[in-house]
Amino acid sequence: MPMRVVPTIAEFRALRRALAEPVGLVPTMGYLHEGHLSLVRLARASCASVVASVFVNPTQFAPSEDLDAYPRDLERDLRLLEAEEVDLVLAPEDPASFYPPGYCTWVDVEGITDRLEGASRPTHFRGVATVVTKLFHVVAPQRAFFGQKDAQQAAVIRRLIADLDFDIEMVVGPTVREPDGLAMSSRNAYLSPDDRAAAPILHRALRLAERLVGDGERDAERVRDAMRTLIESEPRVKLEYVSVADAANLDELDEIDRPALASLAARVGATRLIDNVLLQPGQELS
Ligand code: PAJ
Repeated sequence: MPMRVVPTIAEFRALRRALAEPVGLVPTMGYLHEGHLSLVRLARASCASVVASVFVNPTQFAPSEDLDAYPRDLERDLRLLEAEEVDLVLAPEDPASFYPPGYCTWVDVEGITDRLEGASRPTHFRGVATVVTKLFHVVAPQRAFFGQKDAQQAAVIRRLIADLDFDIEMVVGPTVREPDGLAMSSRNAYLSPDDRAAAPILHRALRLAERLVGDGERDAERVRDAMRTLIESEPRVKLEYVSVADAANLDELDEIDRPALASLAARVGATRLIDNVLLQPGQELS
């Protein structure tokens, strides 16, 4: 069956009825890379039908952020999705398809959204939770696929699914990286060659955290300090935060005595990048 692409919710609903179940949903903002495609492949491997959405969701960008500059190439995205045998793509080019005039309903996941990314982007997760809720209602998938790259987003959506009783199984796929360790991101397209060369220090800092914890370090502040010191050695990188937090609720840890998430955000040149790794204190490095 050829892939179908529709720009409106009404057209989507008409075609959704004919999809074999289980349906897997991969939400994206487009400008697709191997990270997105790895999620599509996970969906293809376990679902009878695969739906992808390509929508640069305006409500998750603050007025000062990069909504207008966000990279877009729908034609290329559709070619990539077709090659992965996606069945149906919802690709609204007009934000009014999702947010008609008078729109005023929001989904707010509290607590877990007020730290890390939420601290510097106070309305970001409200926009994400709202658009993902709308996608869940419109697509009605049995499974939904998200990336570990956006660990806090995944934690917020896990909470949203539980709290609003969505009958959806959430699957989180591993972070796909460039050969030098930089996590793939649509925003990497903004990096100048010098900034691109500096950016892998973020992953090196996360690997340092893994190594310290693997060697038995349990003091979270010492791990945060070691990451900060390494990153501050690179003048092109301006660190926004480093965190070593409880992997389940993202509360900052004093002692690494449970599964933890080491995460960070930094500006490399004008580009804001995030990355993370899971730390398992019980597990020695081989
Ligand atoms: P976007 O940044 O396009 O990412 C879409 C999905 O791809 C997310 O689940 C994200 O975590 C995942 N992803 C991105 N880079 C990845 C990588 N290097 N490895 C593995 N997965 C990766 O996240 C969003 O869009 C939006 O917030 C969205 C959920 C679509 C709501 O608008």
